[in-house]
Amino acid sequence: MTAPENILIAIAWPYANAEIHVGNITGSHLPGDIVARYHRLKGNRVLMVSGTDSHGTPVTLRADSEGLPVEQVYKRFHEGFLDLFQQLGIHYDLFTSTHTANHFKVSQTIFLALLKNGFLYTETRPQWYSPSAGRFLPDRYVEGTCYICGFEGARSDQCDRCGNVLEPEKLINPRSKVDGSTPELRETEHFYMDLSKLEPEVVAFLKERQHYMRETVVGQALGQIESEGLKPRPITRDLDWGIPVPVEGWDGKKLYVWFEAVIGYLSAAIEWAAITGQKDAWQDWWTNPAARSFYFIGKDNIFFHTAMWPAELMGAGEQFMELFTGESGKRLTLPYDVPANQFMNLEGQKISGSRNWAVWGRDFLSRYDPDPLRYYLTVTMPEYRDTDWDWEDFLHRNNDELVGTWGNLANRVLSFAVRNFEGRVPDPGPLTPQDEEIIRVVEGGFATVGAELEAVHLRNALGEAMRLATEVNRYLDQTAPWKTIKTDRQAAARSVYTALRCIDNLSILLAPFLPHSSEKLHAYFGYEKPLFGQQGVEEIQDELGSHKGLRYYPANASGRWEPSSLEAGRTLVQPQPLFKKLDPSIVEEERSRLGRPA
Ligand code: MF3
Ligand code: ZN
Repeated sequence: MTAPENILIAIAWPYANAEIHVGNITGSHLPGDIVARYHRLKGNRVLMVSGTDSHGTPVTLRADSEGLPVEQVYKRFHEGFLDLFQQLGIHYDLFTSTHTANHFKVSQTIFLALLKNGFLYTETRPQWYSPSAGRFLPDRYVEGTCYICGFEGARSDQCDRCGNVLEPEKLINPRSKVDGSTPELRETEHFYMDLSKLEPEVVAFLKERQHYMRETVVGQALGQIESEGLKPRPITRDLDWGIPVPVEGWDGKKLYVWFEAVIGYLSAAIEWAAITGQKDAWQDWWTNPAARSFYFIGKDNIFFHTAMWPAELMGAGEQFMELFTGESGKRLTLPYDVPANQFMNLEGQKISGSRNWAVWGRDFLSRYDPDPLRYYLTVTMPEYRDTDWDWEDFLHRNNDELVGTWGNLANRVLSFAVRNFEGRVPDPGPLTPQDEEIIRVVEGGFATVGAELEAVHLRNALGEAMRLATEVNRYLDQTAPWKTIKTDRQAAARSVYTALRCIDNLSILLAPFLPHSSEKLHAYFGYEKPLFGQQGVEEIQDELGSHKGLRYYPANASGRWEPSSLEAGRTLVQPQPLFKKLDPSIVEEERSRLGRPA
């Protein structure tokens, strides 16, 4: 046994302005959870964190349009996220929020460390100001005519027709999205982070990881730096909602949402340590150079995780720990891998939440079970290119693969054993070479499926585990215990034993992907302790009041990532079917629920 590793699973923080749909799930939450569960089974020390991205204009715009306080709106979406993750079994050690005193403090400390190390400067520039509202308008609040292509509905920072990033102050015929009034340009002062000073370090960091990081990720990051360079970026905004700038005289300004949200990976680990009463435990992941951190995000977040966040960590240097704990000589761990995914479309069109061209996580789970969703979203995961959710394909994958290949295999062998061998694992007597061969093949899965999971090739990993299930089906077709039981009871006992042993191992190989059904199956095999721990919602107090956090409790988890040699005589439980066959009528029914594509 090698010593346990420290693995940080960092998952993109969803904005509190919309529900989570299948594209978000397959993009980040699900792949993160699969990898976390695999490492937990292996006995590694996993810390999986994320939370609700509660600040920023996506959230304030939503609150404005509903005419409700931002606080109320972000909490409503936050609670929806907690519900979804519980139903889907996304096992966060802590899913928190950026609106906590702890996150404020950690973010402000990173800011101060960067300031002290000379990576921040201030500059005054013109910005759109709304005389009617008496405040500056964030870029997304201002619309007008694109000065490049003439499109009249351009956002001040980006044109959705020509796709160009715009200089906000050049927008023609600007109007406020809040009340339609005409804004004017006024001077305002902001802090900028001089990313250019860190460009050589960021490039070196990416090149060092180039040999194992996805080409779609590292290529995009390096390509962007090569063509545009790392330019200074403003990291404060004129806003009421958000984290105060920790500098005298800067009242009324806030830290830019992207600057602080990425810091959540660090602050959530610190919060987790405090809640679990092991104040410094977060350092096992964050100041331990041997710890490996994996960041699960969508392709739209690549820049912020491969350039901005590493630059913040590098720039803060040893100063963060000097300021935060008073310790010297300690640096924060840089990302190990950023396995960003591409996008998932829906029925051939881009997902659009606002037009209801989407499959929503919680809505799906009101009609179907969680493992079929996890299964379909893994086999169609957009690891290297955009993929498509197609209801017909979902139906077939569920019925032919999940039910046909795996569910039926487990169910018929267990039921047969319960019925014909007094509810026990039969004593096989000496195994034949054919029996030994299939056992060896399936046990080999701990190495082959494991290697794919290590490399975050999740489609391949699941494909390999399902291939092994197909092999066991073939073995059963050949040995046909349902026939031999009538003539040669010992031969039937041998092949039922062999198949049961393979199924017991397959339930572990599939557990990272299909935790709910593997957990059930594990219990049918008579194991008393569950494979995984439990999760629940807790009220967490801090100086900003209280917030709800989702927590994973590992107590009692007894999963393993190694073959078991199932002992004869073990008592089995009469199984229920693991999966349901779906009626083809769901395809039209589900399609008719969809809105319009963009
Ligand atoms: N809220 C952002 C989004 O939904 C993601 C933020 S990831 C973080 O696109 F790391 F910055 F939090
Ligand atoms: Zn344009």
